[in-house]
Formats: sequence, structure tokens, C-alpha cells
Amino acid sequence: MRILVIGRGGREHAICWALNKSTQVKKLYCAPGNAGIGEVAELVAIQEMDFEAIAEFALDHGIHLVVVGPDDPLSEGIVDALEQHKILVFGPRKNAAQIEGSKVFAKNLMKKYKIPTAAYETFDEYEPAIAYVREQGAPIVIKADGLAAGKGVIVAQTIEEAESALQTVMLDRKFGSAGNRVVIEEFMTGQEMSLLAFVDGEVVRPMVPSQDHKPAFDGDLGPNTGGMGTYSPVPHIPQSIVDEAIQTILIPCAKAMVAEGCSFRGVLYAGLMITPTGPRTVEFNARFGDPETQVILSRLETDLADIFMASVNGRLADIDIQWSKDAACCVIMASEGYPEAYPKGRVISGLDHVEEAVVFHAGTASKDGQIVTNGGRVLGVTARGTDFAEARAKAYAAVSQIQFDGAHYRKDIALKAMKAAGLVEA
Ligand code: AMP
Ligand code: GLY
Repeated sequence: MRILVIGRGGREHAICWALNKSTQVKKLYCAPGNAGIGEVAELVAIQEMDFEAIAEFALDHGIHLVVVGPDDPLSEGIVDALEQHKILVFGPRKNAAQIEGSKVFAKNLMKKYKIPTAAYETFDEYEPAIAYVREQGAPIVIKADGLAAGKGVIVAQTIEEAESALQTVMLDRKFGSAGNRVVIEEFMTGQEMSLLAFVDGEVVRPMVPSQDHKPAFDGDLGPNTGGMGTYSPVPHIPQSIVDEAIQTILIPCAKAMVAEGCSFRGVLYAGLMITPTGPRTVEFNARFGDPETQVILSRLETDLADIFMASVNGRLADIDIQWSKDAACCVIMASEGYPEAYPKGRVISGLDHVEEAVVFHAGTASKDGQIVTNGGRVLGVTARGTDFAEARAKAYAAVSQIQFDGAHYRKDIALKAMKAAGLVEA
């Protein structure tokens, strides 16, 4: 079987790494990929948004399946475009990808089908939005409607912060047309958890839970990022809560999408807040998480190509999906300045010295025989162990082997899990 993966991040490296282990995959391509992906797949110099060039490549090379990683091409309809050429694709069509592409669509769906989430109102004008914020008080959450690279959400601790967020999103248009409308949401408290599932119509096959670390610095300080590290499982959230989230959030969402005429096929990602009254939805994404995928696929024991093929052939309900009991931990090494402006082209050394971890590349490129930084999040150093002490020790030992100028990473990834498991003092 020949598979083409679309994307260039750590998530796509993890997907290619897992597919590369499959005995059925005879040839693996990735467009456009990165330096690390180039070690497990053949890189194709086609951009994610160039749907026609992707279709032409897939037809010319007898590709049996295309797997789409990122949200932008999904929201723009890559699946519909490829299906017109009769190419098999793992990923949601444009009308289903709206669950991530429009927060207003997602919130309205949750309201209509009584899927637990924060109370909210939607606004397309600044003055009424300001009036609502003043009436509700702080803390309060402001969300740009459209895609904003994970940065269109502002958790305002004061009314002044909320007002300035509305100014930035609605008047200054910091996120462009993503700010045409905003969702203003009740602030929820609790532990966050990412729960992803393979979904095909009403069939929902949950993956193992994981937890991301969005703020840039230790102790959850600093600006939000795309994610600075992950771990799986989440020992301090009991299985009964995970089961409740599957029953009250993931399954109802898949059914609602079918009922609305936009049946979902692909990975449905529920970002959850475990509140004192149970799990509630923070957001839905229409794809694998990054860097959740790095830890989740590290624990997958079933052939990923089998799961993808079962899904596109309508057999997802029948396939046996096995997960390792091991703990996994992924530490992101980021460029100096990330999530704000950052330099590119800094030489990365020490990658060859890593032994007990897998280094998933995110923003890297090959230049003159060296591997250099080429993005904000550069590497996702991922390790497995029989417990979090081992997984974490291996991941950080590997991180200490790797150098590039200005590299920064959080030192507290999975510390919460260690405390919960009693491996360090709380
Ligand atoms: P999102 O991009 O929707 O995942 O939001 C980014 C982050 O903002 C989440 O991971 C949460 O930490 C926080 N957040 C979003 N919505 C809420 C909410 N209603 N209450 C509290 N925190 C929230
Ligand atoms: N790690 C967060 C995301 O993929 O959206």
C-alpha cells in the first residue's frame, strides 16, 4: 500500500513514524514534511493548500490513501477536492471540519444537542459585545470565531482585559476575518484533558486520554502556545470520568454531525474541562492534536494503517485497537521568542546522541547537510516508560543531549502526573 501524508509538523512526523512500522505500507510519502519526516518517508515538495497538485501526485503515484494532518486544508475542503478525483482520504469533509473551523458552528451544535459546554453568546458587533462583558463580569473568555493558529482565545481575568481583547479581535482585526464574529463564554475551572477518537459517522473509537501544556513557561505561566508538551495517560482523571466524556460528549457529537447532514470521518478531538459538575467541552478539533499525537501514537500497539483503512472502508466498528499500559511524555523544544516572533536557520546538534527517546521534528529543515530550526516549535522529544518517572527521565535526558541557540522548553511536563501517581511530593 502507498500512503501520502499531508503536513509538516510534529504530529505528521508521529503519524509517519507509526505508519512506517506497518508491514502493509510499502511506500510512504509526505507533502511537504520536514527534516525528520524525511528519514521515514519520501518528501514531496507540494504545499498543504495546493489541492490540485496533491491530487495529481496521488493519481500519478498510485496512492491508495491520503492522510491529512492539519486543520487549514481540512477547513478549506481538501477531502472534498481529492474525493472528486476518486482518491481515498482519511479526514473530514469541509462541512464536517466546521466543527473546528467555526466556533459559532460548534457552540450552536452543542447547544442544540445538549452537549455539555460553557454558557455563551455570539456577537458580530463590538458595542453589544462590550455591553455583554460588562453585564457578565470577569473572569470571562473571548474567542475569535475562525481559525487563528490556536491563539484566538483570550481568557480575561478582568473586565479591562476582556474589553481590550474585544478591541484586538473585533476592531484591530489581529486575526483577520477570524474575528468577524466572537463567542463570549463563561469561564470554567478544572483540569483540562484531550480526548481524541477515530470517528466514522456514528462509530466512535476513543484513543487514550492525554494532557497538553499550552502556556509557554513552567507553572503554566506566560502566553498560550500551540502546546509545549504532553503526557498520556492522565492518572489523576479516573476512567469513570473518561467514560462519561465519551458518553455525553464524543458519541453525541458524532451523532449530531450525522443528524445535521455533515457526517464526520477522521479524528475528532474533544478539548475537555473536567469541572466539579463533570466533563464539559472547551473545543472540538477535526484532526489529531499536536503534540498530543506524539504521546498517543507512542502508546498505540495496533497497526495505524489498519485503523485508517478500516475507517475509510466502513469497518471502524470491527477493528481491535490495542494500547500499551506504558506512560509517555513529550517535551517540546521551541525557538527563542516563540510564541512571538522567532529566528530560523539555527543549527541543531546532538540528535545522534539520543538513545532512549524518539525525537519528532516539527519546525526543522535540512540545509547544507545539517538540520536547522525552521519553525516556532522545533522538536517533540518523546519517551515511554513503565511509569511517569521513567518516561520523564528518558525524555529530559534526551532533551539535554540536543542543542540549538536560544532553545527553550518547559521543565515541568508531566510533573502533575507524577504528583498524582505519588512519584513525587505534591
Ligand atoms: P481553545 O483554543 O478553545 O482550546 O482555548 C485555549 C485555552 O483557553 C484552553 O486550553 C483553555 O485553557 C482556555 N479556555 C478556553 N475556553 C475556556 C473556558 N470557557 N473557561 C476556561 N478556560 C478556557
Ligand atoms: N495541542 C493542541 C491542539 O492540537 O490543538
